[in-house]
Order: sequence, then C-alpha cells, then structure tokens
Amino acid sequence: MEKSAFDIPNLENSTHLTFSQVLRFRRSCRGFLETPVPDQMITSVLEDAKLAPSNCNTQPWETHIVSGNKLKELSEAFLRENNAERFSPDFSFDLGDYHGRYQQRHFNLGKAMYEGFGVERDNKEGRREVSDLNYKFFNAPHLAIPFMPSFGDNVRVGGDIGMYGQTFLLSLTAHGLAGIPQTSLGFFAGVIREILNVPGELKMLFGISFGYADPDAPGNSFKLGRDPITSSVTFHQ
Ligand SMILES: Cc1cc2nc3c(=O)[nH]c(=O)nc-3n(C[C@H](O)[C@H](O)[C@H](O)COP(=O)(O)O)c2cc1C
Repeated sequence: MEKSAFDIPNLENSTHLTFSQVLRFRRSCRGFLETPVPDQMITSVLEDAKLAPSNCNTQPWETHIVSGNKLKELSEAFLRENNAERFSPDFSFDLGDYHGRYQQRHFNLGKAMYEGFGVERDNKEGRREVSDLNYKFFNAPHLAIPFMPSFGDNVRVGGDIGMYGQTFLLSLTAHGLAGIPQTSLGFFAGVIREILNVPGELKMLFGISFGYADPDAPGNSFKLGRDPITSSVTFHQ
C-alpha cells in the first residue's frame, strides 16, 4: 500500500496537466475545505463530463448539483435515516457478494481507511463515525448526483453513468479540485428524490461530493494502490 499525503497539482503557474498526471493525481478525497467552488468552474466540469461516451449516444444523465442550505438539509436527512436504518435504495448492494480477490481488495480498503482515520478495528463506534462522514460529504461544499432514466435491467445505463462519473472526476482533478463517488448516498435515493423534487422514474447509483481537497485531513492520509495488469489482463493473438 502506497502511503502519501494528498497531492494537489499546482495549477497557478501551468494551466494544464498531462492526461497521465490527471489520472495519477485523481484520488477519492475524504476531507474537503469549506471553500466553495466558483460557479463557472462547476460549469466547466459539467461541460467536460457531458463528453462521456454512452450507449447509442443516449447521454442518460440528469445531473443535480446541490450546495448551501439544500446540502445541509440532505445531510441531516441522511444521518436521520441512517440512524433509523430506513434505507430507500434504487439498486441492491450487498458487500457479502464480493468473493476471492475482490473481497480481499475491499478488506484492504477498509483497513487502510480505518488506519488512516486512526480507528482501531474493534472500535465499532469509531468505525461508525468514520462511515457517517459519508453523510456529511466529508465536509465538501458541493454534491453532484447524476440521476439516470431507467431502461430494461439498467446494466447499460449504469455503465453510461459510470463513464460520466469518471469523466466528471477526472475533470475535477484537471481543474485543481477533488471528489469522491459515493454509493453510500444511493442508499437513500428515495429521500434524496423527495428533497430535491426529482421524479420517481429517475434512478440513482451514486453521488459525487466535490470541492477543494484538505491535504491535512486524516481521510486523505492514505492512498489505494492497484494490482499489476498481469493480474487483470489476458492477451490473445
Ligand atoms: C461507484 C463508486 C462508489 C463509491 N462509493 C464510496 C462510498 O460510498 N464511500 C467511500 O468512502 N468511498 C467510495 N468509493 C471510493 C472507492 O473506495 C475508491 O474509488 C477506491 O477505494 C479506490 O481509491 P481511489 O479512488 O482513491 O483510487 C466509491 C467508488 C466508486 C467508483
């Protein structure tokens, strides 16, 4: 496991990062500064994100950006619903489904995360507090939710939303910003729709909290590695 502080590209002197730098600087940020992102920068990220490819160019994303008092309202609702264990997800998600090396990687993430936050494995309350940070958006001033229309079994549109999400995240990095995709927010899709007045036919996979990274936040003190391509790629000829 690579361990390093959250690297933030210095965009003051050079306005562009190479593609390789954007990929390598992008990380899931778990500690943001309160500083809001200027509107025109958010628009610029959205202009980038919409360039994502999609099945039949359907562009199946209906994005809501939430900030200020509405974001506070969402946070309070998430914490309330989570405490009451009242979940309203659009799609099931059972961590118990992970097996073999996928399960191991999930375990490695949990270990790195709780170590980063300085919480012992058997400290249930501490783990709960860390997990609840999801519902405070890790202090981020903004949240993007790419809602999706529902088609068939939703696998293809889910893939499209994934492409959109990654394009959004890479654009954040290229703008000197940071973000984190959060499936945990999707556990309360029903509540989010109610608060944001979103019609029931639009479904939610994940939200993306975003803003300026706080490089000193404990949640940014660890970095997840990747397995070598030899473990995931098969060549044929
Ligand atoms: C669709 C999606 C949903 C995720 N949901 C969460 C989440 O709810 N909470 C969280 O802390 N991290 C979440 N993550 C972040 C992953 O843990 C992270 O991408 C992974 O550990 C690799 O680390 P990196 O993004 O820093 O490279 C999510 C990532 C993806 C792609």
